[in-house]
Amino acid sequence: MKVTVVGAGYVGLSNAALLAVHHEVTLLDIDAAKVALISAGRSPIVDVEVEDALGSGTLNLVATTDEAQAYGTAELVVVATPTDYDPVTNLFDTRSVDAVVERALAAKADTLLVIKSTVPVGFTEQLRLRHPGARIVFSPEFLREGHALQDNRYPSRIVVGDQGEDGELFAGLMRDAALADDVPVRLMPPTEAEAVKLFANTYLALRVAYFNELDTYSAIHGLDSARIIEGVGLDPRIGLYYNNPSFGYGGYCLPKDTKQLLANYANVPQNLISAVVDANTTRKDFIAADVLSRNPRVVGIYRLVMKEGSDNFRSSSVQGVMKRIKAKGVEVVVFEPALEADQFFHSEVIRDLEEFKRRSDVILTNRRTPELADVAAKVYTRDIYSRD
Ligand SMILES: NC(=O)c1ccc[n+]([C@@H]2O[C@H](COP(=O)([O-])OP(=O)(O)OC[C@H]3O[C@@H](n4cnc5c(N)ncnc54)[C@H](O)[C@@H]3O)[C@@H](O)[C@H]2O)c1
Repeated sequence: MKVTVVGAGYVGLSNAALLAVHHEVTLLDIDAAKVALISAGRSPIVDVEVEDALGSGTLNLVATTDEAQAYGTAELVVVATPTDYDPVTNLFDTRSVDAVVERALAAKADTLLVIKSTVPVGFTEQLRLRHPGARIVFSPEFLREGHALQDNRYPSRIVVGDQGEDGELFAGLMRDAALADDVPVRLMPPTEAEAVKLFANTYLALRVAYFNELDTYSAIHGLDSARIIEGVGLDPRIGLYYNNPSFGYGGYCLPKDTKQLLANYANVPQNLISAVVDANTTRKDFIAADVLSRNPRVVGIYRLVMKEGSDNFRSSSVQGVMKRIKAKGVEVVVFEPALEADQFFHSEVIRDLEEFKRRSDVILTNRRTPELADVAAKVYTRDIYSRD
């Protein structure tokens, strides 16, 4: 099948690499530097499986910035462009998805369009109304950054928002591309599939927020969070997983997806969804206050990424903590090898780890690292298990 994937980020790249084993795949992006890198067999994201797949030279994959080449003969177009949260409208900015759908349909009206970007609940039905006769399906993406291709080869489930032939076709394509047997497949109307994505991510955020609030309570009352979490989690209904305290839930998806779900709740009674959103603010307020209670002159931020192995720091929680500390007039310095600039939001970036350790009175790290073992007395973290 001739497949075009639009957007060469975590979602697009991993889906393109997955499908290019059995299909002829074109990967379209507006970023010429990314396209050049992929064309040279190199990955623009840190992900071992994606790097190996691109480097193997065995994929039937062409990367391009040329829309005519990408849309002209495609039988299937997979949309994986960004949907950032817009703080002014309180909704996702879906303009990149709208634009791709329009251009793809203008080039070839009978193309099957599958939206993998996360969209507001009800978005696909609206899109179908605006493009009568078009074949538009939504299929949520559940990958984790850093394991993007692995999670698509061994998916927890394949959910497709269409119960007709198009839904069957795409579900079959993804099931055949997966390396795991017996992957649960669920076909449902697009609005329900959109809800699955936002409710799944909001549940994950809820769980993070819950153990973070447990940890805030323990910290304020001088109790041992680890002992309490273990005692709680040994109940098999709760479980000893995804329970590691942090500075707050973060990354590209959880903060924006919870806010979008809250927006979808307009006129629907709720307490929990807004609490999940608010809890993250409260947690960062607590962390910042706890750090400031040590009266540091200089606070060092060790890495802006959410966790070890991550290669980006989109919406990482430590940035919210950093903002609060700076607002109190305390100097903040940053150690982040992934940054090329000398400043990050007016804070000095220190490249030399030893100098960073020397200059910082308190060092914040969301996850413990052996690199800071020699300055353990300066380290501030809420990490217990060095995971999640
Ligand atoms: N990152 C994740 O873990 C994850 C997981 C599930 C779902 N999602 C969702 O998938 C979507 C994409 O996320 P991502 O993390 O892959 O994004 P990303 O920012 O890593 O990649 C998006 C890519 O799209 C390109 N792009 C932007 N506008 C374009 C256009 N008009 N035409 C062609 N290319 C364009 C960008 O240059 C970029 O390379 C978002 O809606 C996100 O919420 C992400």
